[in-house]
Amino acid sequence: MPTSTSKLPPASGMPVLISQQQIADRVAALGQDITTDYAGKSIVLIGVLKGAAIFLSDLARSIKVDATFDFVAVSSYGRARVSSGAVKLIKDIDDPIEGKHVILVEDILDTGLTMSYLRGLMLQHKPASLKIATCLDKPDRRLVPIEADYVAFKIPNHFVIGYGMDYAEVYRNIEDIRLFPEEAAGN
Ligand code: IMP
Ligand code: MG
Repeated sequence: MPTSTSKLPPASGMPVLISQQQIADRVAALGQDITTDYAGKSIVLIGVLKGAAIFLSDLARSIKVDATFDFVAVSSYGRARVSSGAVKLIKDIDDPIEGKHVILVEDILDTGLTMSYLRGLMLQHKPASLKIATCLDKPDRRLVPIEADYVAFKIPNHFVIGYGMDYAEVYRNIEDIRLFPEEAAGN
């Protein structure tokens, strides 16, 4: 965990990759897709803390079928930009999902290690169905074969911040998605 954020550059100087309006439009479209796909059913949205919190809250409001929320937390990158490859569950779901239609909601599908770990874990609970929704997908970075069912944006291999996504826990509340400068990344 960072003790000081004073050396991090302001987000205002970082180029916008995806604007607030573009995000809103795509998230609304995904919500409509999910509403259609799950017509007549109720679903459980399981957000991956903390990055997916903002995406989940927007997506949930564009979904018009009954939806409950749950959250899991896994070990994160911390300050480093590169995953150690090790994924550890820090917080499990609160309620049983057996027989339920579950959508795992993630901020970014990157190497895929986090999602394939969580997918395996959730499948042990025997949900009626399990899908993955991600705000961003960086397909070039994949180390394990996993795809999301609902993707808001596919992006190239570049580190981004904003809309829930952080660098060293900072920038999550930036409203658009911006490119984090390589030179500021301590790694
Ligand atoms: P994966 O296990 O490599 O797929 O890791 C996905 C997680 O890494 C995401 O949930 C993010 O928390 C984090 N991550 C990956 N790329 C970025 C990025 O560009 N910005 C912020 N966080 C990222
Ligand atoms: Mg995350």
